[in-house]
Amino acid sequence: MNDLQGRIVVITGASSGIGAETVKILAQHGAHLVIGARRVDRMDALVSELGNIEGQVIVKQTDVTKQADIDSLIRTALDKFGRIDVLINNAGLMPLSFLSQTKVDEWEQMIDVNLKGVLYGIAAVIGPMKLQQSGHIINIASIAGHSVFATGSVYCATKHAVRALSEGLRQEEPHIRTTVISPGAVDTELPNAISDKRIGAATQEMYQQAISATKVAESIAWTMAQPANVDVNEIVIRPVSQSQ
Ligand SMILES: NC(=O)c1ccc[n+]([C@@H]2O[C@H](COP(=O)([O-])OP(=O)(O)OC[C@H]3O[C@@H](n4cnc5c(N)ncnc54)[C@H](OP(=O)(O)O)[C@@H]3O)[C@@H](O)[C@H]2O)c1
Repeated sequence: MNDLQGRIVVITGASSGIGAETVKILAQHGAHLVIGARRVDRMDALVSELGNIEGQVIVKQTDVTKQADIDSLIRTALDKFGRIDVLINNAGLMPLSFLSQTKVDEWEQMIDVNLKGVLYGIAAVIGPMKLQQSGHIINIASIAGHSVFATGSVYCATKHAVRALSEGLRQEEPHIRTTVISPGAVDTELPNAISDKRIGAATQEMYQQAISATKVAESIAWTMAQPANVDVNEIVIRPVSQSQ
């Protein structure tokens, strides 16, 4: 994947799971990264683990529910590297519950992070990418953006929305590559946010079949490595045993 050498990449939700694995793979292939999440200690540890990458990965504390934080994340990439080639809107959370449990705070969190966070990311890069006449926006949706399951109503709604706005972006911006990555069960910290014990236990059980986050990260890197005139619009990747 020599094509990734020197690519300027910003990624949200880089402190764990799919985001952290993506940082590792892209850094190993010579990309320059500005990485954001709230847990700076986790991102610093990730950079130390990578070793010998002086200045190649910049850590920036970022809460994607704050537009100013995302603007600042993107500004850091532009100031340091002069352009931005790829934005990976990856931050997300999945506190599943039944609608009748009216966990309104969790609904709002999902809308703020999974949907508004992605929109803030697009808002921050679309101007610079239009000026460059190039760029690549990769949004991490889910197979929950393709179907709906009980306890996942709000999570699925946010992921359906991410797919819808990604398609709109693709149609509106012919110079910007637009990719949706829709994973099934992936072995990360994602189920930890489920506050209902029974739903949490059932989800952990279902996640016994989960695939490694490295596999999703590799699919992200593969879309980035395609020739400039090729836009991989969506990848669905899940455990072979996962029926839905
Ligand atoms: N794992 C799966 O089975 C699966 C399946 C389909 C889709 N996905 C999607 O994949 C993406 C990554 O999730 P994951 O599976 O890697 O889970 P994860 O290990 O829990 O990672 C989630 C990441 O999002 C970040 N995040 C959460 N709230 C944030 C906020 N307000 N501001 C900035 N960052 C925030 C977290 O960082 P901080 O807490 O440090 O801020 C963390 O780095 C999500 O969009 C998720 O919906 C995952």
